[in-house]
Amino acid sequence: MPVTFCTDLDKSVLVTNFEKRGWLHVGPEDDWNFYWAGIQTCRNLFSIDSGYRMNDNQIINHFPNHYELTRKDLLIKNIKRYRKELEREGNPLAEREAPGRYVYLDFIPVTFVLPSDYSMFVEEYRKNPHSTWIMKPCGKSQGAGIFLINKLSKLKRWSRESKTPFNPSVVKESYVISRYIDNPLLIGGKKFDLRLYVLVASFRPLKAYLFKLGFCRFCTVKYEANIQELDNMYAHLTNVSVQKHGLEYNSMHGGKLSIQNLRLYLECTRGRAVTETLFKDIKWLIVHSLKSVSYIMANDRHCFECYGYDIIIDNQLKPWLIEVNASPSLTSTTVSDRILKYKLIDNIISIVLPPDGIPDVRWNKCPSVEAMGNFELLLDEEIISKNNENTGKVQDSRGSGHNRK
Ligand SMILES: Nc1ncnc2c1ncn2[C@@H]1O[C@H](COP(=O)(O)OP(=O)(O)O)[C@@H](O)[C@H]1O
Ligand SMILES: [Mg+2]
Repeated sequence: MPVTFCTDLDKSVLVTNFEKRGWLHVGPEDDWNFYWAGIQTCRNLFSIDSGYRMNDNQIINHFPNHYELTRKDLLIKNIKRYRKELEREGNPLAEREAPGRYVYLDFIPVTFVLPSDYSMFVEEYRKNPHSTWIMKPCGKSQGAGIFLINKLSKLKRWSRESKTPFNPSVVKESYVISRYIDNPLLIGGKKFDLRLYVLVASFRPLKAYLFKLGFCRFCTVKYEANIQELDNMYAHLTNVSVQKHGLEYNSMHGGKLSIQNLRLYLECTRGRAVTETLFKDIKWLIVHSLKSVSYIMANDRHCFECYGYDIIIDNQLKPWLIEVNASPSLTSTTVSDRILKYKLIDNIISIVLPPDGIPDVRWNKCPSVEAMGNFELLLDEEIISKNNENTGKVQDSRGSGHNRK
């Protein structure tokens, strides 16, 4: 019997990959083995009302409550909670410097959820009234609804204007307000962010992989000259969906630079050691963002998920986690982008399937190095705990497996 697949996304990188493996395309009502679903379909399938029960030979590309990681407000809430819990346990990872900054876990810009945390935000704002903040609607993506502010009065005006007095029952949309990273690392005078792909095969034990072919997404407009122009989104937002409307976009080959070339560039301009530290810090922040939700994620063995991480590097070579996407774009901007996304999907499939290529939740999800392709292992808690058993070490709680700084 051939493996059957189903997908709601009409993307050629997906279908070409499935068909190359000889899989059979079926509908959602049919007997499918592998579903590449949109998040809504996944939510419906897992809802109690659907009455759907998956069998051992069915797997799907989302965890039912992935939003704990991928909604902007919940990501922040979970990371803050994780740090507090470690602190309460007396875990050295939660060490703080004098003014309160976490030494090892300071990888998200200071952020508040509005309207609920408004007074906490005002308190923080007053400490440093000259800084810039970025407002982002929790429920939107691709740069939609984002704006920068550097005056409290602007926020107050926005709050007044965005009220809906004619329909008081409409719940006001929630936003996150984050300290704007105003010293981004620039290349050619332009701001960029990293798009990294992280595959999670299981949350408990945590099994996560990093795709080595991530890339930088550039703004089309120079940053320095425009720093005072808070409204110029071509200088501040690195989303492809924003930048592709910019005049310079096509001449920049889709505005992307591979992560390997970024590494070479940094080794030459900043030196090997600091570049090495930066890349270690990036892995560190990814692992801890995942650990912050690993205990609340529904750990269904039918699920895996490939997250799109947005990371900004500042000019001190410190990486900042900006957001995590549950459905990173599979649209290709150039031929090489298409090849990259094809490899991404191909590698994901070979990691999440057992060696015989048939989805099976009873498999222990320990892929061979060959099956990982362009992914590298970030963390496999099962392997760590087995090694610890063999060496007689006691596994400590959630900070285990890392020794940084
Ligand atoms: N705190 C920040 N500092 C600097 N730039 C930011 C910050 N937050 C977001 N950005 C910029 O805005 C873009 C969009 O923000 P993001 O949180 O990824 O929302 P979206 O869901 O719209 O992509 C990012 O890719 C980045 O370029
Ligand atoms: Mg984004």
